[in-house]
Amino acid sequence: MYVLGIETSCDETSLAIVENGKNVVCNIISSSSNLFTNRGGVIPEVAARNQVQALPPILNTILEQYTINAIAYTKEPGLQSSLLVGRTAAHIAASVLQVPLVPVHHTHGHLDSIYLDLQDAIQFPVLSLSLSGGHSELWLRTSATDQTLLGRTRDDAIGEAYDKGAMLLTLPYPGGPSIATAAELGSTDAYSFSLPMRSDPTLDFSFSGLKNALRLHVASLTAAELETEKSNLAASYQHALNSHVLNKLERALANNMEIQEIHLVGGVAANKDLRTKITSMCGSLTLRVPSKIEYCTDNGAMIAASAYVRTLNRA
Ligand code: KG4
Ligand code: ZN
Repeated sequence: MYVLGIETSCDETSLAIVENGKNVVCNIISSSSNLFTNRGGVIPEVAARNQVQALPPILNTILEQYTINAIAYTKEPGLQSSLLVGRTAAHIAASVLQVPLVPVHHTHGHLDSIYLDLQDAIQFPVLSLSLSGGHSELWLRTSATDQTLLGRTRDDAIGEAYDKGAMLLTLPYPGGPSIATAAELGSTDAYSFSLPMRSDPTLDFSFSGLKNALRLHVASLTAAELETEKSNLAASYQHALNSHVLNKLERALANNMEIQEIHLVGGVAANKDLRTKITSMCGSLTLRVPSKIEYCTDNGAMIAASAYVRTLNRA
């Protein structure tokens, strides 16, 4: 079964075809993030205008080349005008082609990005960390379709903390990759950040305190000092954000001894330091991350996979 997945929840316009929820036939991603490099974040109406222009030619190219059996689109959450572009295109195409239309929750899309290119079977139960610009969540998955939310951020998402942190450090948007690159040249213990919620018994996260601590460190420096200290600040900040995630993951594992696998998904799953930290904590547990970096950040393939795994494969 060929499923067309359409993802337009933020600044990406991504259309993909995935066969039987796993094999990625094509995954086209057009992003307007370059328009927001020095703006610190996405401007919703600019993103949506861009998507109105970008989507039709991609859809035409795909429909000329492939016969599709179903269409999936991101229904929520996201920027309203951007979601509307994808939803409208999906509705029109499904009606013209007379194929089933499947609305997909963006979070399910990220959770199911693990199925893309999957070679073996997932062993449940799974702890799934979904970390992006819009959310930071810890899920317990007991099957392909059943999951319970164990914890989530009480304030900013971790990706947001990366993006806002980059703005404070005058590094370009998106902040995650900028901070990760700058951090390579810095020292993780150059600046101290006290980790949030150390004695909190829940599995919730909080990232805004770390962002404010970075703001104070930056405010204590002159512009010239900030230039020379940028990589040290980036390394220490990245280390603190990721260590907070690790603390919560450790607690979740201690509470759920039966866990078979850990999944790390969402845009922040692209972060190398976080992957390394989790890998060394995992021990004998399997850590799965999306098979390609482009399946971590927003993409149409994960939406198609999710529609297949949760709906079409069960119809
Ligand atoms: O999943 P995603 O593409 O969009 C949302 O659903 O939000 O995630 C985007 C987020 C941005 O905040 C971006 O800074 C972050 O993922 N990100 C990273 C990295 N690559 C992208 N954060 C840390 N390290 C990275 N290498
Ligand atoms: Zn996302």
